[in-house]
Amino acid sequence: MTDTADEEFKVRQVKPLIGAIVEADKQTLLGGNYAARIREMLDDRGVIVFSQTHFTDEEQVAFTRTLGKFVPEMHGDVFKISMDKKINPQADYVKGAFYWHIDGTMQKVPLFASMLTCKKTAPTGGNTEFCNTYAAWDALPDDEKRQIESLRVVHSFVNSQLYVEPEPSLSLYDEWAAYGTNELPLVWTHTSGRKSLVLGSTADHVVGMAPLESRRLLLRLRDWATQEQFSLSHSWSIGDTVLWDNTGTMHRAMAYPLDCDRQMHRTKLEGEEAFS
Ligand SMILES: [Fe+2]
Repeated sequence: MTDTADEEFKVRQVKPLIGAIVEADKQTLLGGNYAARIREMLDDRGVIVFSQTHFTDEEQVAFTRTLGKFVPEMHGDVFKISMDKKINPQADYVKGAFYWHIDGTMQKVPLFASMLTCKKTAPTGGNTEFCNTYAAWDALPDDEKRQIESLRVVHSFVNSQLYVEPEPSLSLYDEWAAYGTNELPLVWTHTSGRKSLVLGSTADHVVGMAPLESRRLLLRLRDWATQEQFSLSHSWSIGDTVLWDNTGTMHRAMAYPLDCDRQMHRTKLEGEEAFS
């Protein structure tokens, strides 16, 4: 992708393998004329920053709808990501976002894309980081691709929660375990023919591999995929909107003081393709 300076829709790359920054006013974005272009950019860039949209919730929902099938949240159209339980009763669940993950690895069809608009920033920390799992796959040496291409990985909610709470009581463990497991390919061959790595905090073990060897492989691939050239870190300003292709990236929030009032509003686009 090359940078463009279309008067009302300016685009520049963040890094060669990930990220684009769009400067456009919200009327231009809401008008939908650039929706197809944005979809192409998502495929190519993984993550798109729309600087300073200052979307209201209604506008964010309307913009999301221009890009695909909008999925409402459990309690309304927008999910308020906050550590304040008065704002977000599911604050504890948000802590899982501090570790690299793909949304929806416990399902057959993950979300296509997610969008965040920043309402309040953290005083320190609180960046959101992304890495391009297509680019990470593409750059692996051929012999390694051959070794891992047909491996399968069992994902579990338990594994992701152990990052947050490493010494759970048995009853808490059983609550997590009730969400079950989901076996997925380590390498996702998309209908487009492109391939991406499927990793993240739910990745519990590689099927048929000895436990320690399995853990080593998953950590090594995560280290690989999150290297500098495949990743970017977005430092938020109030009013920024970020959209990412959840099927070709991983993401995580960087640590911030849990008692601060950092707040993001999230909307989602329905998955269009099963892991395969
Ligand atoms: Fe997430």
